[in-house]
Amino acid sequence: MVLDALIYIKNEVDPTLTFRRSCREGVCGSCAMNIGGRNTIACTKGHDEISGTISIAPLPSQPVVKDLVPDLTGFYAQHAYVQPYLKTDTPEPEKEWGQTEHDRAKLDGLYECIMCASCSTACPSYWWNSDRFLGPAALLQAYRWIIDSRDESTGERLDDLEDPFKLYRCHTIMNCAQVCPKGLNPAEAIGEIKKLMVERVT
Ligand code: SF4
Ligand code: FES
Repeated sequence: MVLDALIYIKNEVDPTLTFRRSCREGVCGSCAMNIGGRNTIACTKGHDEISGTISIAPLPSQPVVKDLVPDLTGFYAQHAYVQPYLKTDTPEPEKEWGQTEHDRAKLDGLYECIMCASCSTACPSYWWNSDRFLGPAALLQAYRWIIDSRDESTGERLDDLEDPFKLYRCHTIMNCAQVCPKGLNPAEAIGEIKKLMVERVT
């Protein structure tokens, strides 16, 4: 994997080389970078998937802390903005919040996000407006909680996105879906949020 090559370089060639990694299994999202011109995670990207010299750069459009480490402060703040946790008003049930199999299945393709930031930092709308557009990763997470049958804050969640920039700066360019190393489709999730926005006023 490309990550193994980076670890080799750090151990054997240049100990100052700086990059993030943790799980080496494609589940923590920390090793995201631009490899061969495409955002992805280094620990699941085979070096043999790229012919010739492999170019490696930090995720685009974000300030660089050092070498391959981007400053994702804004990205994480956007994740926090969508309040990625269950919000309820009714008293806690004795055992657990129930959910039908059908409703649980609606979370497939959403809960698997590892917040690697590959999608957001591949999105031209995010490059130009990352201070105001929430970006595909945060919006995928927003939809994950909007669509959760157990959540009781759907209206407030939609209110929080009703803004010319936060949601509507997505122009369906689709880079997000093309680069996601987990095969997710943030653009589709954003489209579903837009539909809900329309449905609630008609
Ligand atoms: S949707 Fe995919 S690319 Fe975007 S943060 Fe989640 S796992 Fe990474
Ligand atoms: S090291 Fe965790 S996703 Fe790559």
